Amino acid sequence: MTTSAFGEIPSGYPDDVVAVGPASGLHYVQLAPWMNVELERLELMAFPTTDPVDLYDREELLHLAHDFPEGGVVGFDGEQRETACAVGLGVRTHFDFDNPQHNVKTFFDGAPTESGDDPDGHWYYGTDIVVSPDYRRRGIGKELYDLRKQICRDLDLAGIVAGGVIPGFAEHKHELTADEYISKVRAGELYDRTLTFQIENGFEAVCGLANYMADPEVDSWACLIVWRNPDWTQSTEAGTS
Ligand SMILES: CC(C)(COP(=O)(O)OP(=O)(O)OC[C@H]1O[C@@H](n2cnc3c(N)ncnc32)[C@H](O)[C@@H]1OP(=O)(O)O)[C@@H](O)C(=O)NCCC(=O)NCCS
Repeated sequence: MTTSAFGEIPSGYPDDVVAVGPASGLHYVQLAPWMNVELERLELMAFPTTDPVDLYDREELLHLAHDFPEGGVVGFDGEQRETACAVGLGVRTHFDFDNPQHNVKTFFDGAPTESGDDPDGHWYYGTDIVVSPDYRRRGIGKELYDLRKQICRDLDLAGIVAGGVIPGFAEHKHELTADEYISKVRAGELYDRTLTFQIENGFEAVCGLANYMADPEVDSWACLIVWRNPDWTQSTEAGTS
């Protein structure tokens, strides 16, 4: 038997399974190059109002699978491997919390690899987390976050940082600034179907990120979210890059 983020994987599962979802029963498999076309499809389905240039395409997914496969997990329903139900992707990076404003397209410029992964980076930058619409609200998103947290522990990373989308801002953008909206979600006065979920999963909603990714519905705003790994061995450096 193999041990995973969710305990031991019972015998009888295919060899590629790195974890079995305790709530969903999904087979979680490490990111691999052959998944690129399927994951491109999942991206386009999950972010219908986002400009596709800000999403992973099949070429970029190939680079990511080559550079940092251990940072990606893909969920399949049962033993079939044609249709993916869920994916969590990321790269290692440095992050300057004194200058948090950044844009998803240019943030990785200058990184040492094509995918943006910097093997010397202390932080896991969550580039993507998606659950197929038919599989939502079954705890799969939480499982993906638990798997990412385990990746941080396994690789001794400082934690997870990401630009989280704030779809609910679309309904409030005429009366609130993005930071006011985020404060209200943080305080539990407003519900955002993505940011509320991330806060419930232990993330801190830090501040609005202007022009993060092109999405006219939310005037291209996102929210900087951070989870700090309590087991990080270099924690005196926490808070900077
Ligand atoms: C955000 C996203 C990943 C969440 O995935 P998910 O699998 O639905 O997440 P979970 O099931 O773990 O949790 C979602 C909600 O369902 C609830 N839930 C979990 N299991 C449940 C169950 N069995 N029955 C009812 N509700 C359940 C959770 O408590 C959570 O509630 P909340 O709305 O109060 O936060 C998914 O909606 C998605 O892919 N969205 C589009 C892409 C996206 O926005 N990604 C994030 C980019 S930053």
